[in-house]
Amino acid sequence: MATKPAVEIARLSPSDVDAAILVIQQAFADDPFADWIYDRTQFSPKRNHASMTIRMGWGMRNGHVYVAHTPERKVAGVAMWVAPKPLDAKPTWDDWWQDWMLWFRQVGMNTRFGRGGLKVKRYYLWKECQARMHSQVLTNPEGYWFCNILAIHPSCQGQGIGKALMQAVFSDADATGLPCYLESSKFEPNVKIYERMGFRFVKEIKCDDGEAACTLFSMIRDPPAKQVDDDESEEDGKVADSE
Ligand SMILES: CC(C)(COP(=O)(O)OP(=O)(O)OC[C@H]1O[C@@H](n2cnc3c(N)ncnc32)[C@H](O)[C@@H]1OP(=O)(O)O)[C@@H](O)C(=O)NCCC(=O)NCCS
Repeated sequence: MATKPAVEIARLSPSDVDAAILVIQQAFADDPFADWIYDRTQFSPKRNHASMTIRMGWGMRNGHVYVAHTPERKVAGVAMWVAPKPLDAKPTWDDWWQDWMLWFRQVGMNTRFGRGGLKVKRYYLWKECQARMHSQVLTNPEGYWFCNILAIHPSCQGQGIGKALMQAVFSDADATGLPCYLESSKFEPNVKIYERMGFRFVKEIKCDDGEAACTLFSMIRDPPAKQVDDDESEEDGKVADSE
């Protein structure tokens, strides 16, 4: 691994949004999922920028979006998370309102820019496959920290920035004993990289429309055994020793 640069992890601010989108576009330039879901010859960076701006705005309001600043790059990486919700939690009025706002903004964007190469049938097939995957693997009643974007600028990969970005949420997840979840469409090298971050591979699911397929690999990071359990077993050990 290259020398680790000085990295500052911060919440995404509106002034970082454009730089964060550029990182996402460049990091996913050769992504198998993007290749499957977009007709690259029709891909519109302008439409994608508008779509990502909406998503970032939603993330700042409803999720947890972190960016990595380095001395060389204003934004070297970005991670977007959605906080855990108990599986049986009902959506609040605010969730409902935010979802509708997102939908209206997306419709507005599609009217203005068109689909920009997005293969709409594949988009719905992916949603279906993802829902099937989630119903099978997301079984923890208290929910999961859900990572829906992680991207490091290609010139900054392999320098510990991804791990530093993820740590912002791992600390919270570990302190509250909650698992983290992500999906990747790249087995190599991502599964190995995420294993180094404490994730384990759980399941793969193939989205196949008969013309081409894309496989999603899901991974879970379990929280360490709760501190209180460790303390108790230490106490038990002491008692046993003294007996
Ligand atoms: C996947 C990605 C987010 C990882 O971030 P990163 O900053 O490159 O990863 P890090 O440098 O923090 O590496 C984390 C660990 O993986 C290891 N690692 C990094 N690259 C590796 C590789 N190519 N093969 C094996 N291990 C690797 C590191 O050594 C490190 O382990 P350590 O802490 O035990 O030393 C980043 O490479 C990326 O943006 N890729 C393109 C977009 C993408 O695929 N995003 C993920 C969508 S789910």
